[in-house]
Amino acid sequence: MSNPPSDADPAKVAFCSLTESQLSILKSLPKAELHAHLNGCIPLAVLQQLASEYSGEGGHTSDAIRQSLDKLKDGVELKEISDFFSLFPTIYELTSTPNAIATATRAVLESFLDGDSPQCSYLELRSTPRTTACMSRREYVEAIVAEVEKYPAEKAALIVSVDRRMSVADAEECVTIAIDLKNAGRRVVGVDLCGDPLAGDMQLLKSNFDRAREAGLGITLHIAETEKNTSEDTLQLLSFKPDRLGHATFLDDAAKKIVLEQGICIEICLTSNILCKTVKSLQDHHVMYHFRLDHPVAICTDDTLPFRNSMLGEYALLMAEPPHGLGLKESEIKRIAEMGMQNRFPPRPRSDK
Ligand code: IMP
Ligand code: ZN
Repeated sequence: MSNPPSDADPAKVAFCSLTESQLSILKSLPKAELHAHLNGCIPLAVLQQLASEYSGEGGHTSDAIRQSLDKLKDGVELKEISDFFSLFPTIYELTSTPNAIATATRAVLESFLDGDSPQCSYLELRSTPRTTACMSRREYVEAIVAEVEKYPAEKAALIVSVDRRMSVADAEECVTIAIDLKNAGRRVVGVDLCGDPLAGDMQLLKSNFDRAREAGLGITLHIAETEKNTSEDTLQLLSFKPDRLGHATFLDDAAKKIVLEQGICIEICLTSNILCKTVKSLQDHHVMYHFRLDHPVAICTDDTLPFRNSMLGEYALLMAEPPHGLGLKESEIKRIAEMGMQNRFPPRPRSDK
């Protein structure tokens, strides 16, 4: 947190407005990071290192890679959420071998869990299995889970993501890998649905999420992330019986009723929503609506690389006085941190339903 804060860094502005004693309160809270995308959270220095070793085999020139990394370094300006997805091809190019993805995973785990003042006490890291010229989807997940398992189970676990842009066959392969690894006693605790919020027909994916749930995996779904997500799409996703929801920014009344009645935890990513412009401002963010109802929420970072945020920064947004933050009291923030810890995916037995 050394650069001067700007509008592009709302969490940094909030962080800088807090006193030392407020910061030490935030640092001391046990916090669970439940919504962090691996390839969106790689420290820039690690990507730069991977770029320096890049052979060019994947067709990107070194100049193109350097330009993309410079953009990330300066802080990305997103006009709308679709701009966000264009950041990933370069990152993917640099994490396309088992060694590179293992290096990236180690760095992400360290960035959240290690050091004198770790960002969080528990990390549920998520990633979308990718086939590359050097590895299969299964090898990709195995490389990641091997790194996750170097930490104790009470510190780190893996969620396997399915991308909305995938074919049904590819989604099925991802879920099968997650189930097989869980059944083999590996540290896979859930499946996620992510990717372009407007892509795909969710009805086609239901049976795979049913399989995951029956195998005892937790289910989290990016849902109603943009204003353009239809009620039909949202209700279809709620029929997957998720345990948690990512963002849930534009729930209509029918969806809200289900989410509230079923007490489904919402993973809240304040900086991500502000920078992707899916909320007008921090003060308009739906986190307060849910918190006032004592509905479970978990404060998360989403993608620390493009958003240049941290768990401490996200909690600073809760504590800082308006307009920089939401001005919540210490006891309220403690309650929110507890909700995050309570909504971790516990290891669950297979259900025969
Ligand atoms: P990965 O799954 O480790 O490759 O992490 C990056 C991927 O996560 C991106 O390509 C997106 O598909 C997904 N992702 C990251 N942030 C978001 C988000 O806010 N909404 C939907 N998908 C996201
Ligand atoms: Zn996300």
